[in-house]
Amino acid sequence: MTSLFLITLSFSFLALLATPSFATIRANSCRSYCGNITIDYPFALDYGCGHPGFRDLLFCMNDVLMFHISSGSYRVLDIDYAYQALTLHDPHLSTCDNIVLGGKGNGFAIEHWRAPYFNPTADNVFMLIGCSAQSPLFQGFPGKHLPCRNISGMGCEDYYDCPAWNLLGHKKVGSVYGSGPPECCAVAFEAIKAINLSKLECEGYSSAYSLAPLRVDGPGGWSYGIRVKYSVQGNEEFCRACEATGGACGFGTDGVKQLCMCGSFNSTKNCDSESSTSSKRTWSLVDALAGIFVCMSMWIQHEGDSTWLINMM
Ligand SMILES: *[C@@H]1O[C@H](CO)[C@@H](O)[C@H](O)[C@H]1NC(C)=O
Ligand SMILES: *[C@@H]1O[C@H](CO)[C@@H](O)[C@H](O)[C@H]1NC(C)=O
Ligand SMILES: *[C@@H]1O[C@H](CO)[C@@H](O)[C@H](O)[C@H]1NC(C)=O
Ligand SMILES: *[C@@H]1O[C@H](CO)[C@@H](O)[C@H](O)[C@H]1NC(C)=O
Repeated sequence: MTSLFLITLSFSFLALLATPSFATIRANSCRSYCGNITIDYPFALDYGCGHPGFRDLLFCMNDVLMFHISSGSYRVLDIDYAYQALTLHDPHLSTCDNIVLGGKGNGFAIEHWRAPYFNPTADNVFMLIGCSAQSPLFQGFPGKHLPCRNISGMGCEDYYDCPAWNLLGHKKVGSVYGSGPPECCAVAFEAIKAINLSKLECEGYSSAYSLAPLRVDGPGGWSYGIRVKYSVQGNEEFCRACEATGGACGFGTDGVKQLCMCGSFNSTKNCDSESSTSSKRTWSLVDALAGIFVCMSMWIQHEGDSTWLINMM
């Protein structure tokens, strides 16, 4: 009886070993680096890794991470996973030291299908420079009401104090509607949904954000760049469950369906789940044999015990 018990135990143990939850922790095959920036879910560099809404988005070239959307390519300065934000840089973005005209800047406009995943932060100000009087920006605002305003204490009145404006020969005139459009108009992304310089008929733009809750004094102290909030749209459960079972989060060739990559197989749930979508599970035979053996030994053990069968039912 003791030996039978030991055999049963060892086979049960074998069966456990064969189930994926007890498999060795798999290295996350999707995590990578570009320069000193960690690329992790929902982002990825390899197709099939990460969240499908973030596919074909990041490219690493000579240790420089680039973010590519319909309005252009931006250098990624930082990915803040805790706050779910990206800091982007556009070489044609005007700063306090340099104003770039000629409509060369990217602005910020995202593909329609990707839009739910990205939004410049609420404290990011876009300052549109040299927009024509016919710009959609100034239409539909009768009288002196302009859409221009201060965002998080940052706006054009302060921006005009930058040395770059002296180089342009900027005269300190008020932004009074009627005497022509203002040279600079500050807006929040929320207000217009796409910073498209050609559509808005603007010569250039600047973008600044404030990270600290305290107000930074003067435009010389602002952070210039585009701060973008990202989210996977409340779809975090899938990846959390996948990673908890040692998998790496990805998606299928359709570019839509999420997959959990478990090394030897892919699952539509997680690495503990039975719903593998591809590849044969090599341990299924071991599993079946062990299962049969466990049942057999239990049956042998309880042979003659008439109440056992009833108890099992
Ligand atoms: C990456 O390196 C650059 C300088 O090479 C530094 O300015 C930046 O803060 C670093 N970023 C991170 C996330 O460590
Ligand atoms: C799992 O899915 C990824 C991404 O679609 C694919 O590259 C990989 O080959 C798949 N692995 C298996 C074992 O089917
Ligand atoms: C910007 O607007 C122009 C003109 O309306 C349009 O042709 C172009 O596709 C837009 N660009 C983006 C990135 O949306
Ligand atoms: C923006 O703030 C400045 C002071 O920093 C103020 O002079 C100006 O009137 C404000 N502009 C708007 C449009 O509220």
